[in-house]
Amino acid sequence: EQIKKGNYEHFMQKEIHEQPHSLTTTMRGRLRDKSVILGGLKVHLKTIRHSRRVIFIGCGTSYNAALAARPFLEELSGIPVTMEIASDLLDRQGPIYREDTAVFVSQSGETADTLLALEYALKNGALCVGITNTVGSTLARKTHCGVHINAGCEIGVASTKAYTSQIVVMTMMALAIGDDKISTQARREATIDSLYNLPNVVREVLQRDGEMKDLAKSLIDEESLLVFGRGYNYATALEGALKVKEVALMHSEGMLAGEMKHGPLALVDESLPIIVIATNDSCFSKQQSVIQQLRARKGRLIVMCSEGDASLVCHSGSCRVIEVPQVADCLQPVVNIIPLQLLAYHLTVLRGYNVDQPRNLAKSVTTL
Ligand code: AGP
Repeated sequence: EQIKKGNYEHFMQKEIHEQPHSLTTTMRGRLRDKSVILGGLKVHLKTIRHSRRVIFIGCGTSYNAALAARPFLEELSGIPVTMEIASDLLDRQGPIYREDTAVFVSQSGETADTLLALEYALKNGALCVGITNTVGSTLARKTHCGVHINAGCEIGVASTKAYTSQIVVMTMMALAIGDDKISTQARREATIDSLYNLPNVVREVLQRDGEMKDLAKSLIDEESLLVFGRGYNYATALEGALKVKEVALMHSEGMLAGEMKHGPLALVDESLPIIVIATNDSCFSKQQSVIQQLRARKGRLIVMCSEGDASLVCHSGSCRVIEVPQVADCLQPVVNIIPLQLLAYHLTVLRGYNVDQPRNLAKSVTTL
C-alpha cells in the first residue's frame, strides 16, 4: 500500500496531486487539432442531437460533475438538460421517454441507485449513455454507449480526480454534440484551446497547497462552513462542501448564491466562515453584490477570485482571498475545486480524522 501511495501520506492527497496527469489521460487521443473525437459516442451523436431532452443522472460527486457540465451542454446543443439524483428519480418514478437521452455518471459504475435508475430508463426506451471510470463495470456494460473517463484507479473514498475528469469528459461530449453548428465554432475552438492547457493550469493551482493548509489551520475548530457559488460554479460550491463534510467531518453546505436572500442570509454573522466563489465569468457582478451584502452583515468571508481581481472582491483586507488562474468559463469548475479539495484534505489531517476511509462511508455504495 505504501508503494502505491508513492511519496504521499494518503491516497486522497496523491489523487489530488495526480490531476494534471489524470486530466491528460482523460483527453489523450480525443482532441484532434480543433475538434473532439469520442469513439464511444460517434454513431449515436445524431440521435442525441435529435433528443427532446438530455437527463443527467448520478449520485454525490458524480451528480455534481454533471451539474458543472450542464450549462455548456445546454448552450452548445440547445437541448433542455435536466438533472436527476438517481434515488430521487426512482422515488418519484419521474417521466422518461423514448425521445430522451439519459446520461449516467458514476466513477465506480456500480452504484446501486444509479444502476436501478439505468434499468428504469432502459425500460422506458431512452438512449442510455454511460460516463464511468471503470472499464467492464455494470454501467459500462448495460448502457447503449458511453465514454470512459480514464482517470486511473481512485482509492480514496472522497472522489477527487474522477470529478475533474468527469467534467472534462462531459465538456468534450458537449463539444462533440455541438460540432454541427457554425454559429458556435469560435466558442468551441476557444474551449478546446483551454482544454489543451488545463493540466498545466491545474499543476499551477496545486502549488497553493501551503496556502490552503494555512487556511485549514484557521478553520480547524469551526463547526460549520458555507460555500456560495452560482452558474458554472454552483457545482463547485456543492462539491467543495461535500468534500469538507465527508472527510473533515465538519458541517458544510454548498449553496446557490442566488438563493442567499431567500433564507441562508439569516445565518450570517461575524463568526460563521463563508467561502464565496467569484471567479470572472458572466455571473461576476452578481457575485460582487453578494459579497457586498455579506460584508454589510459582517460576514467572515473567504473569496475565491480570478488572479488580479482581489481588489474587486475584497476591499481593505476585509476578507481572505484565494486567487486562481482564469480558464474558459465552462472549465473553471475544474480549476476552482482544486483549492477546496486541498482545504478538505488538510482540515481532515489537522482534525485527526481518517482521510481515506471516513467513518460510515464506502467507496462504492452497492446496496440500496
Ligand atoms: C464522493 O466523494 C463520494 N464518496 C460519493 O458522493 C460518490 O461520488 C457517490 O457515492 C457516487 O459514486 P459513483 O460515482 O461511484 O457512482
